[in-house]
Amino acid sequence: MLHRATATKQRPRGWPDYVVPQNWESFTDDDHAVWDLLFARQVELLGTRVVTPFLDGIDLLRLSHPGVPDLVELNAILEPRTGWRTVAVTGLVPDEIFFAMLGERVFPVGNFIRKRKELDYLEEPDCFHDLFGHIPMLAHHDYAEMTRHLGELGVAAIAAGEGDRVARLYWHSVEFALAREHGELKILGAGLASSFGEAHFSLESNAVERLPFSVSKAVNTPYKHDAFQPRYLVSESLEKTVAEVLGLRPEDVLAF
Ligand SMILES: [Fe+2]
Repeated sequence: MLHRATATKQRPRGWPDYVVPQNWESFTDDDHAVWDLLFARQVELLGTRVVTPFLDGIDLLRLSHPGVPDLVELNAILEPRTGWRTVAVTGLVPDEIFFAMLGERVFPVGNFIRKRKELDYLEEPDCFHDLFGHIPMLAHHDYAEMTRHLGELGVAAIAAGEGDRVARLYWHSVEFALAREHGELKILGAGLASSFGEAHFSLESNAVERLPFSVSKAVNTPYKHDAFQPRYLVSESLEKTVAEVLGLRPEDVLAF
C-alpha cells in the first residue's frame, strides 16, 4: 500500500530516523512458515497473470528461498543491479518520508509479518506485501528508475502542498495498475500482485471500471485504501507508462 501519512506532533525528521534493524533472527518458525504459505499460494494464484518482469524479479532476487527474506542478503543482489536497497521500518511512514526514501532508491519494508489467523486481512503493509509485491519490479531497471522519479515528484509535490496528486499517481502506477503485455491484460501493481483476493478480481470482475492509464488520469483519479478498487487504470504497456512518468517534471504534476 501507499505508506500513508500518520498524524504526528513531533517535529519533522529525516527518513534515516525511521529505519530500524530488521532483526531477522527474531522471526519465529511460524513467521517463516507463514511467509512460505503466502509465497506458495500467491505464486500459484498469479501464474502468468502478472507482467513478465515481475516473475523475472522473483527469480533474480531468489525470493523463492524458504522463509522471510533477510534484507542484507536481498540487498546484496538488488543493490548492484539497480542501485535500490531495502530498509526495515516498524510500520507506516509519513508520505514525505516515504517519497524521500524512494527518491534515494530506498524501499521501506515492515519488520513484521501477518499472523496465520489473519492471512488475508492487513491493517498495514507487512513484509510480505512490501517484499513480494514491490521488490521484484525494483530489479527491473526502467521500472526502478520510474519509482525513484516518483519519489522525487512526491517530495516536490508535498512541498508545494499538492502531495495527494503524486499519491494518486503512485497508487495508479505502482500499487494498483494493470498493464497490457502482448495484448493480454496483466497485473502490474504491487497491491494487486500481493493480494490473494484482489489479484483475480482486478482482472476478471465485471463490476469494476478499467480505464486507459495516463498520467493526467492517474493524478485525478481517487482511490480506496481500505477496500477493493472500483476502477483500475490499464497501461498500454509497461514501457509506455515508464516513459510517460519519467518525462514528468515536478511542475507538470501540478498542472494536470
Ligand atoms: Fe505498497
